[in-house]
Amino acid sequence: MWRATRKKFPPGPSEVLKRWSFGPLNNNPLEYFTGIAREYGDIAGLRILNFKTIFINHPDLIEEVLVTNARLYSKGRVLRANRHVFGEGLLTSEGDFWLRQRRLTQPAFHRARIASYAGTMVEYTQRMMNGWRSGEERDVHGEMLRLTLQIVGKTLFDADVERDAQEVGKSLELLLEIGANFRRTIFVPHWLPTPANLRVKREVAQIERIIYRIIGERRASGRDAGDLLSMLLAAQDEDGSRMTDKQLRDETITLFLAGHETTASTLSWTWWLLAQNPAAEAKLHAELDAALGDRAPTLDDLPKLVYTGQVITESLRLYPAAWGLARLAVEDHEIAGYPVTKGMGVTMAQWVVHRDPRWYDAPEEFRPERWENDLLKRLPRFAYFPFGGGPRQCIGNTFALMEATLILATIARTFRLRLVANHPVVPLASITLRPRHGVRVTFEARQEKEAVRFSSGQQSAVAD
Ligand code: HEM
Repeated sequence: MWRATRKKFPPGPSEVLKRWSFGPLNNNPLEYFTGIAREYGDIAGLRILNFKTIFINHPDLIEEVLVTNARLYSKGRVLRANRHVFGEGLLTSEGDFWLRQRRLTQPAFHRARIASYAGTMVEYTQRMMNGWRSGEERDVHGEMLRLTLQIVGKTLFDADVERDAQEVGKSLELLLEIGANFRRTIFVPHWLPTPANLRVKREVAQIERIIYRIIGERRASGRDAGDLLSMLLAAQDEDGSRMTDKQLRDETITLFLAGHETTASTLSWTWWLLAQNPAAEAKLHAELDAALGDRAPTLDDLPKLVYTGQVITESLRLYPAAWGLARLAVEDHEIAGYPVTKGMGVTMAQWVVHRDPRWYDAPEEFRPERWENDLLKRLPRFAYFPFGGGPRQCIGNTFALMEATLILATIARTFRLRLVANHPVVPLASITLRPRHGVRVTFEARQEKEAVRFSSGQQSAVAD
């Protein structure tokens, strides 16, 4: 089904090296990978110093790597290089240890369990909005980061991290910014006392202080809050041993990081896209007004919020928070006839596949309605994969989709977000894809605006 550009590939990865060095990868990885796909098609080899990687760009090949032959791979270099941050948490651990931890964690993400988080998601969003005033200007990305961090803290660890959110948020942001430098992440060992490494160490220590405090308080109280933290604390190995504080720290820091920045960025991109697409925004408002009237959304409203969901789906297509994935081969094998030797990398980019005109009409355009009539079912499975796939698929996908939909509905019901002129909104492809300088907006209370429009309409009708 797929077409490989064999004629350009055979001289081996080194041929590509001449054209693609680390410079462009570091400076603009989105353009870098888009360019490779355009020039080399569905499969290409890259070599950076002595590191070889195969870049694949067809849904069937991606399925082969993530699902069918998942056992032939471990996680890629960038995540491995960040082990000093994530430790042996779910995102980075491997093998039997990962499987055990995944099974332990899974119940916190079962559909029924997640449903019980809906109230917290809406309540925390309203609490945040209580501090907003119509006409006020803010960085909505900063707001989304603080909100999603508080929601993860409350739902999974029953911890109110409102007072910590600022500090943790700042530290996490710095870590992601430093992680955006692929050259440094991959080739500079984290123990070297470079200024960047020292900063990472400081920020990790800052987050650890808060996380160890949360763990310590729960251990001391012996309270079973029925949340993920209690489940992890109670978990026992066959030999009766329990998780150490270090293991708990690794899982907790992973979930805090993986579970808040991704959803926050998705929402920030959504606000940015909506503000530039008034027709989509109007359709969203119409759906929210019809479904909710003047009340906040609840879990039961979700089936009615079809367009709201499509807005999120489309936003994750154009600005996938996880914009690329990587794996390392653990044995020699072949992909589509090309030899992959042990230690070689395989890279794939949602950013590129999600904008491929073979799967999407007008791929660069924001069109939530494209998802009507079950487009997802008609596409190849990996033409849309914002949450990855196979055994290492995102554990938080249902959580994230519900959270993003509820937050979007709660806010858009009340406020319209207008972009502040001349503020640059630029994607930064770090481990996640986020707006480099945030998204500065002005809040506009919808009722107020609509009331003014309504009353001026009435007046003119009377005058006529
Ligand atoms: C829009 C939001 C999100 C996106 C786009 C996203 C995306 C992803 C992707 C693509 C992966 C797979 C990485 C790979 O295969 O190398 C992943 C893994 C993971 N995600 Fe998410 N994620 C989101 C939200 C969340 C949330 C809300 C949580 C938790 C509360 C979470 C926790 C995790 C964890 C723990 C893993 C590792 C799973 C494993 O390997 O077993 N994510 N995520």
